[in-house]
Amino acid sequence: MSDHPASAAAPLDPDARQGLEQWAAHQSPAALWWASGYLAARAQGAPVGSGAAAPAADALLVLTASQTGNARRLGERLRERLVSAGHIVRLVSSADVTSKQLTAARSLLVVASTQGDGDPPDEARGLWELLSGRKAPKLSQTPFAIFGLGDSSYPKFCEAGRFLDERLAVLGGIRLLERVDADVEYADEAEGWLDAVVAAVPAPVAGAGVAQPQVSGMSLTTRQAERDTPREVPILTAQSIVASQAGRAVLHYELEGGADFAYEPGDSLGVWPLNPSAVVARVTAQLADSPAQVVRGKHERLLEDWLTEHLEITRVARPLLEAQALRSGSLELKALLEKTPDAAARLQSFMTSVNAADVLERFPVLVGQAWHAADLLAVLRPLAPRLYSIASSRKAVGDEVHLTVAAMTDGAASTHLWRRGSEGGVVRAYIERNEHFRLPADASRDVIMIGPGTGVAPFRAFVQERAEIGASGRQWLFFGARHFDSEFLYQLEWQQALKDGRLHRLDLAFSRDQASKIYVQHRLRERAVDLWQWLEGGASVYVCGDATHMASDVHAALREVGQLAGGLDAEAAEAWLSDLAAGKRYLRDVY
Ligand SMILES: Cc1cc2nc3c(=O)[nH]c(=O)nc-3n(C[C@H](O)[C@H](O)[C@H](O)COP(=O)(O)OP(=O)(O)OC[C@H]3O[C@@H](n4cnc5c(N)ncnc54)[C@H](O)[C@@H]3O)c2cc1C
Ligand SMILES: Cc1cc2nc3c(=O)[nH]c(=O)nc-3n(C[C@H](O)[C@H](O)[C@H](O)COP(=O)(O)O)c2cc1C
Repeated sequence: MSDHPASAAAPLDPDARQGLEQWAAHQSPAALWWASGYLAARAQGAPVGSGAAAPAADALLVLTASQTGNARRLGERLRERLVSAGHIVRLVSSADVTSKQLTAARSLLVVASTQGDGDPPDEARGLWELLSGRKAPKLSQTPFAIFGLGDSSYPKFCEAGRFLDERLAVLGGIRLLERVDADVEYADEAEGWLDAVVAAVPAPVAGAGVAQPQVSGMSLTTRQAERDTPREVPILTAQSIVASQAGRAVLHYELEGGADFAYEPGDSLGVWPLNPSAVVARVTAQLADSPAQVVRGKHERLLEDWLTEHLEITRVARPLLEAQALRSGSLELKALLEKTPDAAARLQSFMTSVNAADVLERFPVLVGQAWHAADLLAVLRPLAPRLYSIASSRKAVGDEVHLTVAAMTDGAASTHLWRRGSEGGVVRAYIERNEHFRLPADASRDVIMIGPGTGVAPFRAFVQERAEIGASGRQWLFFGARHFDSEFLYQLEWQQALKDGRLHRLDLAFSRDQASKIYVQHRLRERAVDLWQWLEGGASVYVCGDATHMASDVHAALREVGQLAGGLDAEAAEAWLSDLAAGKRYLRDVY
């Protein structure tokens, strides 16, 4: 057995120590890290240089926190690069990572996206609690590097990466590289970061990982290709499922997916939008020039094509707002962009109420500051597909894909779907898989579904699927909207399902049908005893819909269920919910 370093008070004689210090003084940080790994492996008796696998502590931990796969894909690429460089790499999702893996890692390399309103991805909630709590792992000078993925159109830009950066440092880690906060167009920054990580991580223990590079952790499929090569999917039917007096239209779409367009309940359809022509025309009208062709980055295209098919103009992000603040000199816009919590809240509501044409028109440019097409295109972000929870089960509807879509005024994808739906056209779409939002494998388990508004969509798929497979477990749905008369989505289907025994309980909350507002979270509190019993009996609870308010209000209500019916105090109730989430029995898909 090798001696533990602590067992010797002065393990090096003065000459050896001086020699070591002289040598170390001339080494790069990377060489020093390499040497520390090498010496640690020697101390543990590892057969250095023999080509055998290094001890577990020698593995680099690539940790991903991802919702829709971007962070995961980048993590995969980092793993490939590091394995090629001879490292032993453990690639782990934040849903599966253990405290022990964090403390044993030779270096911790994290790719994390931000979701909701500055929240971690669902799979990372347990990790967040672990790192914030009393049992947080102690990192003894573990080198770490963080790549944050985000979208600067959200006020809490790359918040998840920022949180991890701060916590890992507090817990004793040492920054190997400065954190990167990457926006939607992150490809170039990602390349630079991969190179920097490969150069900076401590080199592999000699021979340890070269002959037999080890890869452990999740097996992953790359979905980028599906997103980037969408299919032309015909829209078969488009039908309004709210009454005309409802505040906004909600449509039920049925699309012809085709035999090999495979999806599971819980998956979403990614739809590539075309921007509304009226918004394109308003943006074009603000330009000082109107060249036929414009170059942006590596591509040259017609101006109209850029604005219709390739860049975001219905959603605005910081780069456009910052540029317009400079060109217009607007104090109002400058105040919105200040980095204070107050300004962030105002910026958020501003950004969800305007498009690029509104910004250009509302804050006119100063003389001599008019936009030229190429300059404007440079501050617009690439158009991204919009996701829609699939509202059908293939076992029930065959090759079709059903969606439940709220129409947004001048919304790129919802308007595009509506237009194409009314003319029987096609949309370019792909399946976005969501392994974090799956029905229980054991069909005898009960299922509780909380889905106000369009959040009900995946639960239509769940109920169809469970009926088709003859699941013996029960289904309980909580649905909410503003008015019973006009906005009870799929009312007849739910009532029929109750009659047929495909749905066992239905609780409804119509917020504006009485003097005081009633939401699904109120119904959850009222049903605390029964909910507790279902959950104690092994039920899974699913939440889908609004991320801004509903998800946190529902979370608080579920915590109260633990308190009211389970007799837990607030902390224990929170831990109970964390355990449910860790056991994949409290699952959320919120947007
Ligand atoms: C996993 C997932 C599942 C989803 N499932 C569904 C679903 O089943 N049904 C559904 O209708 N939607 C769903 N969405 C939302 C959907 O992807 C789009 O964001 C939404 O339809 C708006 O897209 P758009 O292109 O029409 O509007 P955009 O062009 O993106 O936006 C137009 C304007 O509306 C504002 N805006 C966009 N969204 C909101 C909002 N939620 N609240 C206030 N202002 C907003 C924008 O800031 C902009 O000013 C889901 C989102 C995710 C991430
Ligand atoms: C519903 C939703 C909410 C988001 N919220 C934020 C946010 O608050 N801050 C941010 O920087 N990015 C936010 N983003 C952007 C994502 O972080 C970004 O798209 C990222 O590339 C996703 O990576 P992933 O696929 O690994 O989850 C949000 C994206 C979605 C779909």
